[in-house]
Amino acid sequence: MSGIKMITLETPEDVGRLAADIFELEIHAKPTCVLGLATGSTPLPLYRQLVARNKAGRIDFSRVRTFNLDEYEGLAPDHEQSYRRFMQENLFDHINIRPENTHVPDGLASDPQAMFAEYERQISECGGIDLQLLGIGHDGHIGFNEPGDFFPPLTHDVVLTEQTRQANKRFFQSIDEVPLRAYTMGVGTVMAARKIVILITGKDKADILRRAFSEPVTPHVPASALQFHHDVTLICDRAAAGI
Ligand code: PGA
Repeated sequence: MSGIKMITLETPEDVGRLAADIFELEIHAKPTCVLGLATGSTPLPLYRQLVARNKAGRIDFSRVRTFNLDEYEGLAPDHEQSYRRFMQENLFDHINIRPENTHVPDGLASDPQAMFAEYERQISECGGIDLQLLGIGHDGHIGFNEPGDFFPPLTHDVVLTEQTRQANKRFFQSIDEVPLRAYTMGVGTVMAARKIVILITGKDKADILRRAFSEPVTPHVPASALQFHHDVTLICDRAAAGI
Protein backbone atom coordinates (compact mmCIF):
# COMPACT_ATOMS: atom_id res chain seq x y z
CA MET A 1 0.00 0.00 0.00
CA SER A 2 1.99 3.04 -1.29
CA GLY A 3 3.58 5.27 1.40
CA ILE A 4 0.41 5.57 3.42
CA LYS A 5 0.74 4.75 7.13
CA MET A 6 -2.18 2.48 7.98
CA ILE A 7 -3.15 1.94 11.61
CA THR A 8 -5.86 -0.57 12.48
CA LEU A 9 -7.62 -0.28 15.84
CA GLU A 10 -10.42 -2.20 17.50
CA THR A 11 -13.36 0.21 17.45
CA PRO A 12 -14.55 3.55 15.96
CA GLU A 13 -14.05 5.10 19.42
CA ASP A 14 -10.38 4.01 19.36
CA VAL A 15 -10.07 5.57 15.90
CA GLY A 16 -11.50 8.85 17.24
CA ARG A 17 -9.10 8.84 20.21
CA LEU A 18 -5.98 8.33 18.10
CA ALA A 19 -7.12 10.97 15.61
CA ALA A 20 -7.68 13.35 18.54
CA ASP A 21 -4.11 12.68 19.72
CA ILE A 22 -2.85 13.73 16.28
CA PHE A 23 -4.98 16.91 16.34
CA GLU A 24 -3.86 17.69 19.88
CA LEU A 25 -0.18 17.37 18.92
CA GLU A 26 -0.70 19.54 15.84
CA ILE A 27 -2.41 22.32 17.81
CA HIS A 28 0.23 22.21 20.56
CA ALA A 29 3.03 22.40 17.97
CA LYS A 30 1.30 25.26 16.10
CA PRO A 31 -1.45 27.05 18.04
CA THR A 32 -2.40 29.02 14.89
CA CYS A 33 -2.65 25.91 12.73
CA VAL A 34 -5.10 25.58 9.84
CA LEU A 35 -7.30 22.50 10.01
CA GLY A 36 -9.26 21.00 7.14
CA LEU A 37 -12.42 19.44 8.58
CA ALA A 38 -14.96 16.87 7.42
CA THR A 39 -18.58 15.99 8.18
CA GLY A 40 -20.31 12.59 8.23
CA SER A 41 -20.71 9.91 10.87
CA THR A 42 -17.10 8.77 10.86
CA PRO A 43 -15.51 11.87 12.50
CA LEU A 44 -18.07 12.09 15.32
CA PRO A 45 -15.98 10.15 17.88
CA LEU A 46 -13.03 12.45 17.05
CA TYR A 47 -15.17 15.57 17.53
CA ARG A 48 -16.44 14.26 20.88
CA GLN A 49 -12.83 13.81 21.96
CA LEU A 50 -11.86 17.31 20.82
CA VAL A 51 -14.77 18.83 22.74
CA ALA A 52 -13.85 16.87 25.89
CA ARG A 53 -10.17 17.80 25.61
CA ASN A 54 -11.06 21.48 25.09
CA LYS A 55 -13.28 21.42 28.17
CA ALA A 56 -10.51 19.72 30.14
CA GLY A 57 -8.09 22.50 29.16
CA ARG A 58 -5.91 20.22 27.06
CA ILE A 59 -6.56 21.85 23.67
CA ASP A 60 -6.91 25.58 23.04
CA PHE A 61 -8.72 26.44 19.79
CA SER A 62 -8.59 30.22 20.28
CA ARG A 63 -6.12 30.78 17.44
CA VAL A 64 -6.95 27.74 15.26
CA ARG A 65 -8.43 28.36 11.80
CA THR A 66 -10.62 25.76 10.04
CA PHE A 67 -11.85 25.11 6.51
CA ASN A 68 -14.51 22.49 5.84
CA LEU A 69 -14.39 20.29 2.79
CA ASP A 70 -17.86 20.77 1.44
CA GLU A 71 -21.47 21.91 1.65
CA TYR A 72 -24.74 21.05 -0.06
CA GLU A 73 -25.80 23.49 -2.76
CA GLY A 74 -28.96 25.40 -1.86
CA LEU A 75 -28.95 24.71 1.89
CA ALA A 76 -28.85 27.71 4.23
CA PRO A 77 -26.24 27.62 7.02
CA ASP A 78 -28.96 26.98 9.61
CA HIS A 79 -30.73 24.26 7.58
CA GLU A 80 -30.97 21.09 9.69
CA GLN A 81 -28.87 19.12 7.21
CA SER A 82 -26.37 21.78 6.20
CA TYR A 83 -22.75 20.98 6.93
CA ARG A 84 -22.30 24.39 8.57
CA ARG A 85 -24.98 23.42 11.08
CA PHE A 86 -23.41 19.96 11.53
CA MET A 87 -20.11 21.61 12.43
CA GLN A 88 -21.74 24.06 14.82
CA GLU A 89 -23.67 21.32 16.62
CA ASN A 90 -20.92 18.71 16.75
CA LEU A 91 -17.85 20.86 17.31
CA PHE A 92 -17.76 24.64 16.98
CA ASP A 93 -20.51 25.46 19.51
CA HIS A 94 -18.70 23.44 22.19
CA ILE A 95 -15.10 24.65 21.86
CA ASN A 96 -13.37 28.01 22.22
CA ILE A 97 -12.90 28.58 18.49
CA ARG A 98 -13.60 32.07 17.14
CA PRO A 99 -16.57 31.98 14.75
CA GLU A 100 -14.72 34.15 12.22
CA ASN A 101 -11.94 31.55 12.10
CA THR A 102 -14.29 28.79 10.87
CA HIS A 103 -15.03 28.45 7.17
CA VAL A 104 -17.56 26.27 5.34
CA PRO A 105 -18.44 26.79 1.65
CA ASP A 106 -21.60 28.91 1.36
CA GLY A 107 -24.44 26.73 0.09
CA LEU A 108 -26.41 29.84 -0.85
CA ALA A 109 -23.65 31.68 -2.73
CA SER A 110 -25.22 33.91 -5.39
CA ASP A 111 -22.02 33.71 -7.45
CA PRO A 112 -20.60 30.23 -6.81
CA GLN A 113 -17.55 30.74 -9.03
CA ALA A 114 -16.57 33.83 -7.04
CA MET A 115 -17.17 31.93 -3.78
CA PHE A 116 -14.88 29.08 -4.94
CA ALA A 117 -12.09 31.52 -5.83
CA GLU A 118 -12.53 33.32 -2.50
CA TYR A 119 -12.44 30.02 -0.56
CA GLU A 120 -9.16 29.04 -2.22
CA ARG A 121 -7.79 32.56 -1.64
CA GLN A 122 -8.66 32.41 2.07
CA ILE A 123 -6.95 29.03 2.44
CA SER A 124 -3.81 30.43 0.78
CA GLU A 125 -3.94 33.61 2.84
CA CYS A 126 -3.95 31.49 6.02
CA GLY A 127 -0.80 29.76 4.76
CA GLY A 128 -2.45 26.57 3.48
CA ILE A 129 -3.94 23.64 5.37
CA ASP A 130 -1.63 22.06 7.95
CA LEU A 131 -3.74 19.02 8.82
CA GLN A 132 -6.62 17.78 6.68
CA LEU A 133 -9.20 15.36 8.06
CA LEU A 134 -10.99 13.07 5.59
CA GLY A 135 -13.61 10.36 5.51
CA ILE A 136 -14.37 8.30 2.43
CA GLY A 137 -17.62 7.66 0.58
CA HIS A 138 -18.68 4.19 -0.54
CA ASP A 139 -17.90 5.29 -4.11
CA GLY A 140 -14.42 6.51 -3.10
CA HIS A 141 -15.25 10.19 -2.85
CA ILE A 142 -13.24 12.54 -0.62
CA GLY A 143 -15.05 15.73 0.22
CA PHE A 144 -17.72 15.54 -2.45
CA ASN A 145 -15.25 14.74 -5.23
CA GLU A 146 -17.19 12.00 -6.94
CA PRO A 147 -15.71 9.41 -9.35
CA GLY A 148 -14.91 10.92 -12.75
CA ASP A 149 -12.40 11.09 -15.57
CA PHE A 150 -10.01 13.52 -13.87
CA PHE A 151 -9.04 14.80 -10.42
CA PRO A 152 -10.66 18.23 -9.90
CA PRO A 153 -7.92 20.62 -8.79
CA LEU A 154 -9.80 23.36 -6.91
CA THR A 155 -13.03 24.13 -5.05
CA HIS A 156 -15.91 23.57 -7.46
CA ASP A 157 -19.48 22.33 -7.79
CA VAL A 158 -20.46 18.71 -8.30
CA VAL A 159 -23.46 16.60 -9.18
CA LEU A 160 -23.82 14.02 -6.41
CA THR A 161 -23.93 10.38 -7.44
CA GLU A 162 -27.03 8.31 -6.78
CA GLN A 163 -24.93 6.18 -4.38
CA THR A 164 -23.96 9.25 -2.33
CA ARG A 165 -27.54 10.57 -2.23
CA GLN A 166 -28.78 7.13 -1.13
CA ALA A 167 -26.08 6.93 1.57
CA ASN A 168 -26.99 10.40 2.89
CA LYS A 169 -30.77 10.08 2.72
CA ARG A 170 -30.75 8.69 6.26
CA PHE A 171 -30.43 12.30 7.44
CA PHE A 172 -33.37 13.61 5.37
CA GLN A 173 -37.13 12.90 5.39
CA SER A 174 -36.91 11.33 1.94
CA ILE A 175 -34.52 10.88 -1.00
CA ASP A 176 -36.28 13.77 -2.79
CA GLU A 177 -35.00 16.18 -0.15
CA VAL A 178 -31.34 15.19 -0.59
CA PRO A 179 -29.74 17.96 -2.68
CA LEU A 180 -28.64 16.99 -6.19
CA ARG A 181 -25.52 19.13 -6.11
CA ALA A 182 -22.82 20.26 -3.72
CA TYR A 183 -19.76 22.48 -3.41
CA THR A 184 -16.45 20.89 -2.49
CA MET A 185 -12.74 21.54 -2.20
CA GLY A 186 -10.97 19.90 -5.14
CA VAL A 187 -8.78 16.83 -4.87
CA GLY A 188 -5.94 19.29 -5.56
CA THR A 189 -6.98 21.47 -2.60
CA VAL A 190 -6.90 18.38 -0.37
CA MET A 191 -3.57 17.16 -1.78
CA ALA A 192 -1.97 20.55 -1.02
CA ALA A 193 -2.45 19.96 2.74
CA ARG A 194 0.80 19.32 4.59
CA LYS A 195 -0.60 16.31 6.45
CA ILE A 196 -3.70 14.21 5.90
CA VAL A 197 -5.54 11.94 8.32
CA ILE A 198 -8.24 9.75 6.82
CA LEU A 199 -10.63 7.85 9.10
CA ILE A 200 -12.43 4.76 7.82
CA THR A 201 -14.72 2.64 9.99
CA GLY A 202 -17.30 -0.08 9.45
CA LYS A 203 -17.61 -3.24 7.42
CA ASP A 204 -19.41 -1.38 4.64
CA LYS A 205 -16.19 0.58 3.94
CA ALA A 206 -13.91 -2.49 3.65
CA ASP A 207 -14.29 -2.82 -0.10
CA ILE A 208 -13.63 0.85 -0.90
CA LEU A 209 -10.67 0.97 1.51
CA ARG A 210 -9.05 -1.87 -0.41
CA ARG A 211 -9.88 -0.39 -3.83
CA ALA A 212 -8.62 3.10 -2.92
CA PHE A 213 -5.32 2.12 -1.35
CA SER A 214 -4.32 -1.30 -2.73
CA GLU A 215 -5.20 -0.77 -6.39
CA PRO A 216 -3.79 1.64 -8.99
CA VAL A 217 -4.52 5.35 -8.66
CA THR A 218 -7.54 6.38 -10.74
CA PRO A 219 -9.96 9.34 -10.70
CA HIS A 220 -12.72 6.73 -10.77
CA VAL A 221 -11.75 6.21 -7.11
CA PRO A 222 -10.92 9.80 -6.04
CA ALA A 223 -9.41 8.77 -2.68
CA SER A 224 -6.76 6.78 -4.53
CA ALA A 225 -4.99 10.12 -5.25
CA LEU A 226 -3.86 10.03 -1.62
CA GLN A 227 -1.37 7.32 -2.60
CA PHE A 228 0.64 10.19 -4.14
CA HIS A 229 0.66 12.31 -0.96
CA HIS A 230 3.80 12.16 1.19
CA ASP A 231 2.13 12.29 4.62
CA VAL A 232 -1.12 10.36 4.94
CA THR A 233 -2.17 8.46 8.06
CA LEU A 234 -5.10 6.10 7.50
CA ILE A 235 -6.74 5.08 10.76
CA CYS A 236 -9.35 2.37 10.49
CA ASP A 237 -11.17 -0.12 12.66
CA ARG A 238 -10.89 -3.88 12.19
CA ALA A 239 -14.20 -4.03 10.37
CA ALA A 240 -13.04 -1.61 7.64
CA ALA A 241 -9.68 -3.36 7.45
CA GLY A 242 -11.57 -6.58 6.76
CA ILE A 243 -10.04 -8.48 9.69
P1 PGA B 1 -19.67 8.91 6.56
O1 PGA B 1 -19.41 9.81 5.27
O2 PGA B 1 -18.58 9.24 7.51
O3 PGA B 1 -21.03 9.36 7.06
O4 PGA B 1 -19.63 7.50 6.10
C1 PGA B 1 -18.15 9.81 4.69
C2 PGA B 1 -18.17 10.51 3.37
O5 PGA B 1 -19.19 10.47 2.67
O6 PGA B 1 -17.14 11.12 3.02
